[in-house]
Amino acid sequence: MTTKKNEKMEAIVSLAKRRGFIYPGSDVYGGLSGTWDYGPLGVTLKRKIMQAWWQHFVEARDDMYGVDAAILMNQKVWQASGHVDTFVDPLCEDTINHRRYRTDHILKDNGVDPDGMTMTQMDEAIAEKGLKSPDGNPLSASRTFNMMFTTHVGATHDEASVSYLRPETAQGIFTNFKNVVDSFYPNLPFGLAQQGKAFRNEISPRDFIFRSREFEQMEIEYFVHPDKWQEAFDELLASTHEFLHDLGLPSEAIHELDVPETDRAHYSKKTIDIEFDFPIGKEELMGIAYRTDFDLGNIQRVSNKSMEYVVKGTNEKFIPHVIEPSFGVERLMMAVLSSSYREDEVNGETRIYLALPEHLAPVRFAVSPLLKNKPELVEKAREVYRALKKKYGNVTWDDNGNIGKRYRRQDEIGTPHSVVIDFQTLEDGTVTVRDRDTTEQRRVSVEELLS
Ligand code: GAP
Repeated sequence: MTTKKNEKMEAIVSLAKRRGFIYPGSDVYGGLSGTWDYGPLGVTLKRKIMQAWWQHFVEARDDMYGVDAAILMNQKVWQASGHVDTFVDPLCEDTINHRRYRTDHILKDNGVDPDGMTMTQMDEAIAEKGLKSPDGNPLSASRTFNMMFTTHVGATHDEASVSYLRPETAQGIFTNFKNVVDSFYPNLPFGLAQQGKAFRNEISPRDFIFRSREFEQMEIEYFVHPDKWQEAFDELLASTHEFLHDLGLPSEAIHELDVPETDRAHYSKKTIDIEFDFPIGKEELMGIAYRTDFDLGNIQRVSNKSMEYVVKGTNEKFIPHVIEPSFGVERLMMAVLSSSYREDEVNGETRIYLALPEHLAPVRFAVSPLLKNKPELVEKAREVYRALKKKYGNVTWDDNGNIGKRYRRQDEIGTPHSVVIDFQTLEDGTVTVRDRDTTEQRRVSVEELLS
């Protein structure tokens, strides 16, 4: 079973590289662990996912406001938020070759569930089971490792110039809460949404883009009256399921996990993780947390500026509580790629295709002339191509190799429709359109394709 799962993962990684979706970062120089570059098809798919999220959670609602905060922030942000002290993972070391590992990963890889364990309990479990490093050497006791990347702002390198690459986009939202209230004075409840890069110095980045050191988040901080947090939580959870359904993810592969207190982030009073059946197993896709007034309260305490919200027309004021749906774009990419990856048999040969939903497919139509050495076919095909491109945008011209090879290539990148212009087109204006999933072909007029 494990081999099969790994085989599927390897097939997806290989397709992603071969067809220009995702490349290992800095590949030409031997790579940089935990970083990935998006190729022409990958960046399109990623943007479509991000746009679908923005449409669903921001544009389709009248209680959401977008922001785009700076990645570099004043170090006080990360002191007040608790990240400087508590954004840590347990790290242990191979005592012979000094390679470092996440202690919970060592346990998980050896069939021990680390959920709910303290660091001491993890060390005890390692000792009890006599677990060794992957190289077979004894492991050190664990210590905590802060995952934030440190940098310096300006020309001096001292404590005052320390800053961090943000480990979550959330803080850029909290620090703008007051600004947006002052500009728009929205009624509660309302949310602020942000998409953007986040950085974590993961001890062991692994499983393709699943655990990266640089990745993209899409987060909402939804501000509510303290008594109304549960209904907002439920509504955003339901809306999350709708969004995942719209991405084409199968509902039977989606699971809710009510995260036990011992495993929740330091700021959370309740967290539901949405887990997904990835080829690597059931793992966290995204999470929704009830962050109480933890963040705005900390900002008020450290900045000495009021974060209280005054209910319009009343004297009632309080620090709003927060529900936070937090999505990782890479994990959505991996869920979309792995759930759309298919292998079947066509004419006695194995065929690979991506059954991407039409609204996510990087290329919607591929257009080609049946024969590329017949100028009249090429000319007509170019005309059809231009018309489709004008209407849909993500349309490609593909006249490389024979028709069979073109279909294979388009199947692998998930193009739903391959359009071929042949001699009949010159007579009656119809083209053949091949369906990616069924491989069936039908004759359709160009007008129909454009309608
Ligand atoms: N603001 C809350 C927060 O950041 P989190 O559970 O640490 O919560 C939210 O992260 C989401 O970000 C995760 O559910 C996951 O989708 C994504 N994520 C976190 N770390 C990641 C990593 N190293 N690589 C890729 N995605 C990651």
